[in-house]
Amino acid sequence: MDANALMAIDGLSAHYGDFQALYDVSMRFPKGKIISIIGSNGAGKSTLLNSVMGIVKPSAGKVCFAGKDVTGKRTSAIVANGITMSPEGSSVFEDMSVHENLLMGAYLPEARKRKDSLLARAYEIFPALKEKEKQLATFLSGGQRQMLAIGRALMSDPKLLICDEISLGLAPVVVGDIYSRILDVNESGVTVVLVEQEVKRSLEYSDYGYVLVKGRVVMEGETKDLSEEEVKEAYFGTGKYA
Ligand SMILES: Nc1ncnc2c1ncn2[C@@H]1O[C@H](COP(=O)(O)OP(=O)(O)OP(=O)(O)O)[C@@H](O)[C@H]1O
Ligand SMILES: [Mg+2]
Repeated sequence: MDANALMAIDGLSAHYGDFQALYDVSMRFPKGKIISIIGSNGAGKSTLLNSVMGIVKPSAGKVCFAGKDVTGKRTSAIVANGITMSPEGSSVFEDMSVHENLLMGAYLPEARKRKDSLLARAYEIFPALKEKEKQLATFLSGGQRQMLAIGRALMSDPKLLICDEISLGLAPVVVGDIYSRILDVNESGVTVVLVEQEVKRSLEYSDYGYVLVKGRVVMEGETKDLSEEEVKEAYFGTGKYA
């Protein structure tokens, strides 16, 4: 898998002052796949993503993207390399239209040049956004906001799209719809990382999974080989993981 890894994280640790949030985390995100990172509240999911995005400075370890060391680089440089994150909480620009929100995602020169085709792809994947293109984001439903946040992230034309907790606060039927759109995003050639608390759904939609508990990877594997029950035991620290 290594030769194909679009992103390789090795021995990553992160601290907030004296508190250690990540311990020696290593992961591989193979090109063209959907990878899920599953963990409960406070497991270190956002810290991991923020370390990858250059928002949190890791205290040890290395992040390589497409063969290049990007550890500790500025966020803008990381985005320019082809990594984008759709942050937790589906934040959108409330007083801008759907259309304007999407364009905000194409702020780098390369994406700006190709904004029309990128916009067409975003609307093709999320037809609900096309219907609302002139409306202010503040009037969107929770599910539409999440779509807009993902659509905006896609506008930078990432090779790797990282989604932090897509299902947070959304009704199951809406989550199902968004997950199936994620499959379309992946089909369009984007490697996707899903960060989730929701075990069943993440396993169902991804090729490879990692379980993060208290800042450590405690389980990983092809999702076809991971049992929901075992993942839940690891996740909740029950059974043989107690
Ligand atoms: N800015 C910060 N300062 C101090 N501690 C922090 C900070 N951000 C996170 N932490 C701590 O680091 C640990 C990991 O937090 P993190 O937000 O990465 O977890 P998470 O898996 O994303 O959780 P959630 O599911 O709640 O989003 C937690 O114990 C949290 O309290
Ligand atoms: Mg988080």
